Amino acid sequence: MTGQLPQINLEAREEFRQKAVSFGLNPDDKWIGGYVEYEWGKLKHTLDVVLDKDKVKILEFGCNIGASAVIAALCGHVVYAVDIKQKNIELANLNAAQYGVGEQIFFTLINPTDPLPYDDAFFDAIICNSVLEYVNDECLKQVLKQLDRVLKPDGKIIITGTSNRMAPKEVHKGKWFINYFPKSLGKLIYGNKKYQIGLHPFRVLRAFKGYENIDLLDNGKLYLEIKKRFGLSSLNLNILRFLKRVLRPFKISVGLLTPSFSVNLRKPK
Ligand SMILES: C[S@@+](CC[C@H](N)C(=O)[O-])C[C@H]1O[C@@H](n2cnc3c(N)ncnc32)[C@H](O)[C@@H]1O
Repeated sequence: MTGQLPQINLEAREEFRQKAVSFGLNPDDKWIGGYVEYEWGKLKHTLDVVLDKDKVKILEFGCNIGASAVIAALCGHVVYAVDIKQKNIELANLNAAQYGVGEQIFFTLINPTDPLPYDDAFFDAIICNSVLEYVNDECLKQVLKQLDRVLKPDGKIIITGTSNRMAPKEVHKGKWFINYFPKSLGKLIYGNKKYQIGLHPFRVLRAFKGYENIDLLDNGKLYLEIKKRFGLSSLNLNILRFLKRVLRPFKISVGLLTPSFSVNLRKPK
């Protein structure tokens, strides 16, 4: 599917809006009513490029109100989506109904400390969009192991929109240098609620040891193609091209070093 988002089902939209309001959320917020549209301009391009024309079975891990799950379903994939919050799952179901893909997505509430409720090698692909940095530190190792378990050999994991611990400015809350403070100091300054830091991309890479970084293949063609489709200016594309060349001898893809990091990995066969 290309171009415009499909027409919204107005009745389902009203239900979604009312439910959002009942949860104390603003349905006109970019990250509520506008989330699917946002990901249509971002994640859709990543899926188009990384998954090519295959129609596959996808896990959307940490689905929130379902934006990425909806995009994957609109691209024709069968989607299983999990989150740890009941309210998110309720809104996600209504969100999917708005876009006519409610039947194509299986939303499930999970407990963060339980194994994922799927067989080994169940999925062809996994999407982690802006989620791993939110996973409780104590659960993260286990979560990454579970993602590896449920992914098929030769399957792909798409990690994107993830706040980078190495960045001087934390991307979600916009706080300078908080990524470099010891946790206790950061929490003391900002309070528990406002405290948010990034995730170290090399921690993720370590968990998926043996996987192939497909952003490095073909001289980084795939990564640049995604960025081009995001609508990056030619100046920014040239900066990425330059960084790609500098990082090539170290086998580091550019996406790992951006403030919101991304990496596309393939599990060994
Ligand atoms: C920014 S949202 C993710 C957005 C979503 N992936 C999308 O693209 O539309 C982060 C989500 O991660 C979920 N989350 C945090 N820890 C989790 C865990 N251990 N397992 C599953 N989801 C988790 C939160 O409940 C929240 O909904």
